[in-house]
Amino acid sequence: LLICLRWDIIKLLHGTQFSTSSRCMTVMPAWVIDKYGSNDVLRFTKNASFPVIDYPNEVIVKVFAAGLNPIDVSMRGGYGAATMSMKRDPLNIKQSGNEFPLILGRDVSGVIMECGLDVKYFRERDEVWAAIPPWKQGSLAEFVVLSGNEISHKPKSLSHTEAAAIPYVATTAWSALVNTGGLSKDNCAKKRILILGGSGGVGTFAIQMLKAWGAHVTVTCSQNAEQFARELGVDHVVDYTAGPVEEPLSALEKFDLILDNVGGDTEGWAPSLLKPWTGAKFVTLVTPFIENTDRLGIADGMMKTATTVATRALKVIMAEQHRGPGQLAVIDGTMISAVYQKILKENVRPSVRDLKLKRTWVLQQDNDPKYTRRSTSECLRKKTKQNEGLECRSQSPDLSPIEMLWRDLNKAQTLQCG
Ligand SMILES: NC(=O)c1ccc[n+]([C@@H]2O[C@H](COP(=O)([O-])OP(=O)(O)OC[C@H]3O[C@@H](n4cnc5c(N)ncnc54)[C@H](OP(=O)(O)O)[C@@H]3O)[C@@H](O)[C@H]2O)c1
Repeated sequence: LLICLRWDIIKLLHGTQFSTSSRCMTVMPAWVIDKYGSNDVLRFTKNASFPVIDYPNEVIVKVFAAGLNPIDVSMRGGYGAATMSMKRDPLNIKQSGNEFPLILGRDVSGVIMECGLDVKYFRERDEVWAAIPPWKQGSLAEFVVLSGNEISHKPKSLSHTEAAAIPYVATTAWSALVNTGGLSKDNCAKKRILILGGSGGVGTFAIQMLKAWGAHVTVTCSQNAEQFARELGVDHVVDYTAGPVEEPLSALEKFDLILDNVGGDTEGWAPSLLKPWTGAKFVTLVTPFIENTDRLGIADGMMKTATTVATRALKVIMAEQHRGPGQLAVIDGTMISAVYQKILKENVRPSVRDLKLKRTWVLQQDNDPKYTRRSTSECLRKKTKQNEGLECRSQSPDLSPIEMLWRDLNKAQTLQCG
């Protein structure tokens, strides 16, 4: 949920009192925390340090409106402390706790007060908005310093308050759908998308982008939010307060992408709702990385996250294997040519048929070109007069047993071709 706060300094814009000079100021009003905890650690002060321009590409922004996100509430309780301190102080030379007094608030809309010498695209008095990276001081203050590439001009059609409700949550939704999910306005038309937790901040932006791009959108949310979701254009709503959602969701046609804003046990059942063997994606915003790093430190936290993510990915692959046309082949013993050919015959060929792949036969080999494929493919090319019998991608050692298959094929084809 996004809460917008509006500073009474907004009125300064409308009079001659507005000044872009910050040079004589050393302190400013802000909400700060001096340690992690519950709401009672929040403290209002008129004496927070005035931000300074450290790098020539930075600007000082006078805050007109600020936004709060769930991450601010979590950060107040210590979420991300280890990860953010690594980002703020990569060489670990400062004392622990040097982030305090910490200013929260990840969204800002305001006016540039001062520009560093290298700032090219902005000038003093420009109206700008930004999503503030979590390792920087936030917007619950009168001023905030940001680099030129973290801000952009605020759309004129939005008030400062409206603008401050958008950047962090909208860029999160964009990053999940576009950067990670590979979706865009050009490839959404026939796609079926499921958003778990569709009525929250991320969900509502995701719905609007997807509907603008022509996707079919199903969401889970509470009954209270159903009407709201439908007004945003959602095609199908499943009420999570009416009971487990797995059952009603699994009765629906499968999805091309699932955006998970909820977490918990979703990763256990949601991947089975994806279309198998089509490159369908499960994108989750509930990542264990930051929590693991806070709890276990950087090295162990990253290791633990890698293990968790790998286990999740494996579960997804297993789920697809069991439901899709392919089957997981467990090899008991040595991988020899005969075993490999059995896998091709019993697994790959039926999958190719089930998936209705257009090419009749493509064998893609992740192997080094030094392997004996050339003579085999040349022989096949001569024999069949076509070039797409065999394909080879080089340099991965993953499938070295395939070498034996090349040898066998080569032998057989040499015999046939004379
Ligand atoms: N906001 C951001 O900018 C941001 C940035 C990075 C990561 N994230 C992460 O993304 C996730 C979502 O963030 P948000 O800002 O969208 O949160 P939010 O505004 O609190 O929304 C949460 C959503 O989840 C729904 N929900 C809650 N419990 C559910 C359940 N058991 N089953 C199905 N739906 C359930 C809520 O539905 P009802 O309201 O209808 O009950 C609501 O739609 C969080 O994990 C957050 O940490 C958010």
